[in-house]
Amino acid sequence: MIEVLFFGCFLTFVNADGVADVVLSCSLVEEGAGLGGMGGGALFTRTPATLVLRDVPVGPDESLDTLTPFVPPSVPDPDLILFENKVSSAEIPNAVMLLHADCNELEVMCEISRYAPRGLPERSDPAYFMVSLSVEGLDISTSLILQTLPVEKDQSTLTQNKLSLPLSQSGTLQTKVIFLVFSNINSVSAPLRGDVLLNCGFKQEETSLAPEVGLEWRLQHRGKGRKVLEMKRELDNTEGATVVHGERKGSSVDAAQALREGNVSMSLTELKVGDEGTYICTVNLGNFHAQQVIQLHIVQPPQVSLSEEKLILQKSSPQTLSCHCAKYYPLDTQMEWFFLPPTESEPKLFPNQGSLSSHRQHGDGTFSLSSHITIPPSFSPGTKITCKVSHPAMDEPLYVSIVVESPQPDSYWWVLGFLVVTVLFFYQVMK
Ligand SMILES: *[C@@H]1O[C@H](CO)[C@@H](O)[C@H](O)[C@H]1NC(C)=O
Repeated sequence: MIEVLFFGCFLTFVNADGVADVVLSCSLVEEGAGLGGMGGGALFTRTPATLVLRDVPVGPDESLDTLTPFVPPSVPDPDLILFENKVSSAEIPNAVMLLHADCNELEVMCEISRYAPRGLPERSDPAYFMVSLSVEGLDISTSLILQTLPVEKDQSTLTQNKLSLPLSQSGTLQTKVIFLVFSNINSVSAPLRGDVLLNCGFKQEETSLAPEVGLEWRLQHRGKGRKVLEMKRELDNTEGATVVHGERKGSSVDAAQALREGNVSMSLTELKVGDEGTYICTVNLGNFHAQQVIQLHIVQPPQVSLSEEKLILQKSSPQTLSCHCAKYYPLDTQMEWFFLPPTESEPKLFPNQGSLSSHRQHGDGTFSLSSHITIPPSFSPGTKITCKVSHPAMDEPLYVSIVVESPQPDSYWWVLGFLVVTVLFFYQVMK
């Protein structure tokens, strides 16, 4: 039973009073521990660990009948790494969503590592841990800082073998969340010249960890990093001086909201291609700091057009038709050609997909590209030719079409008529 309990990928237990225990299987990540072996060994070692978030409030519509609260193993085991946390110390946003992650077979990423607060000795008492928690597909991402709670030691007190920390009577490492930084989005797409809000927030214990909060937003792209915005704010003084320094024009953080709600989301206006990249939101509180990472993608759909407004078949020579995609971002666009003869119901792919022009890059970083196709004279009039354009900025592909028209019958008959008349005329004359 205990086996199932610990090695089941992700289990939840619900109490009768509207709170639930969330049990996460995590890895304890340690640096440089497993040296040796081939090629110097791994840089990091991972040991299975369990994180129990106690008493996560759940909504009234949760079914509380089927599950029981988390019960630690009856015989404490100093080899197990079992973090037990009362959520109430600094409430984890969206923790209740973790309850459903297992039902929906979403992957929960949970990594725990030792955390050394700045300016404190490495192995201090209490001990600190950093937990990185995210759920794939759910846009929940949190970095928690856990602080161990004091343990009343007696002869029976066990020590966790790997971490050398005293265990509670039930064999758990009792902790509280003292500080966390979270975001409700891992990746966001925004249009060129548009605006975006990059979400980031922090929470801390009721008694503030430090009198001042520091915030830094950085952008990392293609190996280069730069500071986008910096803020310093006294927490206990609403009148206090706030220093917000935006290195990028049009970047801002609502200082009042940062103070009131711990909402340090940054807004960027007039987005450019150069704003794309990985944004790192770092919140500093005294000796502690934690981060969140958000990807920003700039997207701009192409303006699509065909080179011709009217396409009249020429009996002798093939004609060229071009499909132009203009001013889009990012680069990956796809153009496909189809034709639909009047006698058929399903469009067919052109056997030869034509030739592409080279990419043209504009001053604003957007691209243009054209595809040229040859329409053979053998096409029957009434055939519909379609250029299908797919691009990440569009949910659905875009279609532009043209119907080929029959060659002007007039000229042909005029020539024939003229010939007949001429022949008749000469016939009359010669007679
Ligand atoms: C911050 O505030 C904005 C609205 O002003 C909201 O959309 C966002 O979800 C908030 N973020 C956090 C982390 O509280």
